[in-house]
Amino acid sequence: MKLTNKRILLTGATGGIGSALARQLAAKGANLILVGRNQSKLGALLHQISRGESVTPAQHLSLCADLSQPDDIEALHRQCLTWRDQGITIDMLINNAGSNEFAYLAQRSSEAITRELQLNLLAPILLCQKAMSWLNHPGQIMNIGSTFGAIGYPGYTTYCAGKAGLYRFSEALNRELSDSGITVQYLGPRATDTDLNDQRVTELNQQLGNKTDSPEAVATAIVHSLEQETPARWLGWPEKLFVRLNQLIPKVVTASIRKQHATITDFARKLP
Ligand SMILES: NC(=O)c1ccc[n+]([C@@H]2O[C@H](COP(=O)([O-])OP(=O)(O)OC[C@H]3O[C@@H](n4cnc5c(N)ncnc54)[C@H](OP(=O)(O)O)[C@@H]3O)[C@@H](O)[C@H]2O)c1
Repeated sequence: MKLTNKRILLTGATGGIGSALARQLAAKGANLILVGRNQSKLGALLHQISRGESVTPAQHLSLCADLSQPDDIEALHRQCLTWRDQGITIDMLINNAGSNEFAYLAQRSSEAITRELQLNLLAPILLCQKAMSWLNHPGQIMNIGSTFGAIGYPGYTTYCAGKAGLYRFSEALNRELSDSGITVQYLGPRATDTDLNDQRVTELNQQLGNKTDSPEAVATAIVHSLEQETPARWLGWPEKLFVRLNQLIPKVVTASIRKQHATITDFARKLP
């Protein structure tokens, strides 16, 4: 879908990938609804993307919401209905907000696991469901996943579970909505240089020789997938190959990760 003059609701807008994506979508002429938890960060981003648009100013909006809280999801939904009634219709929903904690399962608290799954899996599912009543037709939904949605990796058990669930959900909903004019997409970045990854993870990736993308490169790939309406896409080489290998011959991937196990364990034991 062409992005010019499209109204796009973007969650996680103030994060590394989200803010790079907001800048690129605005540069393409889209009107954004930026969703985040921090009003001042949202205000700064709004200001940044609105600069240079003085000839035909875009109508960017923002909304504060903690998407791990059902009440905030409900409030966001009500606001979208109000906008719809005021003639502000939404063409795309990008579920990009996400979090993780690099730690072995035994180290984690039940509360942290619940919060993570609420944000990474339940929130996008509920937003997709609610979007059925306010998303334009034709419309698009993009769910941001992860390589770890296709490859189970030590230290990320529940993150893998959430992102894998989001992948299967996106596939199922896309098939459910065929002929409705709404497409549902999934894009899985590999390691990306943002605040999501603490210092231990950055060092672990360096030690293991894992490549890291810039948030701008990931944003460019998301924009391209939106324009092309690509149903599912995994970023990075050799990660793409490992995603496929893990489907076809998982024991090859298990053997490869086993060689990294001692190093991963060392880093997971360190305090963040
Ligand atoms: N970075 C990577 O290595 C990597 C790799 C693969 C996939 N991804 C995925 O890419 C997406 C963006 O991640 P990122 O790397 O840009 O991370 P980031 O820089 O940490 O940004 C995360 C964004 O999510 C928002 N967020 C966190 N908790 C929230 C909550 N409870 N309610 C509402 N918003 C919340 C944050 O808002 P605040 O500004 O309020 O904190 C922030 O805008 C995520 O879905 C992530 O899983 C990232």
